[in-house]
Amino acid sequence: MISIIVAVAQNGTIGDKNSLLWHIREDMKFFRTTTSGHPVIMGRKTYESLGRPLPNRTNVVISRQSLEIEGCKVVHSLEEAIALFPAEEELFVIGGAQIYREALSLADRLYLTLIEHDYEGDTSFPEWDREDWKLIRSQRFEQGESYPYPFRFEQYERSR
Ligand SMILES: NC(=O)c1ccc[n+]([C@@H]2O[C@H](COP(=O)([O-])OP(=O)(O)OC[C@H]3O[C@@H](n4cnc5c(N)ncnc54)[C@H](OP(=O)(O)O)[C@@H]3O)[C@@H](O)[C@H]2O)c1
Repeated sequence: MISIIVAVAQNGTIGDKNSLLWHIREDMKFFRTTTSGHPVIMGRKTYESLGRPLPNRTNVVISRQSLEIEGCKVVHSLEEAIALFPAEEELFVIGGAQIYREALSLADRLYLTLIEHDYEGDTSFPEWDREDWKLIRSQRFEQGESYPYPFRFEQYERSR
């Protein structure tokens, strides 16, 4: 099973200059608990923004280059990444925009943290057709423990 997990500002921004634009402790925790124990699949730029493999997860990095990255499997396409794991395993596509764009048509589930604030950045989540997805969970926070704007955790399952 293929899941996408992403945090998106309400104007669609997901990052700038290869980094995140916000620090929401609750979202970091949600990401960690949701993905721990599962494979995570990411583009080379997202790997570079993290700077290290995520612990307790098999890390797969997609690149057109021949790279060796300690603690990660490097593959040349999203399909190759998916083929590494049994179909019943929940795989998490964790970004960035280039990889989300390819994964949207393949994903079964979408974990979306929607930040109710606009951010200026150079990277956006691709357009996605809400008709293809059914909202099955939504939890809203007025603000974070150390974050001033509202955000919500939404979970969607593919409906068609
Ligand atoms: N808000 C969030 O939840 C979130 C999550 C993740 C990332 N981000 C942000 O997103 C930004 C990075 O996203 P991005 O779109 O610039 O980069 P990206 O998707 O992380 O990585 C792009 C790289 O992946 C490789 N790639 C892409 N398509 C490929 C294909 N079809 N076949 C083989 N390799 C392929 C290429 O690597 P090579 O150049 O090595 O060939 C390409 O340069 C950063 O700002 C990051 O902070 C935000």
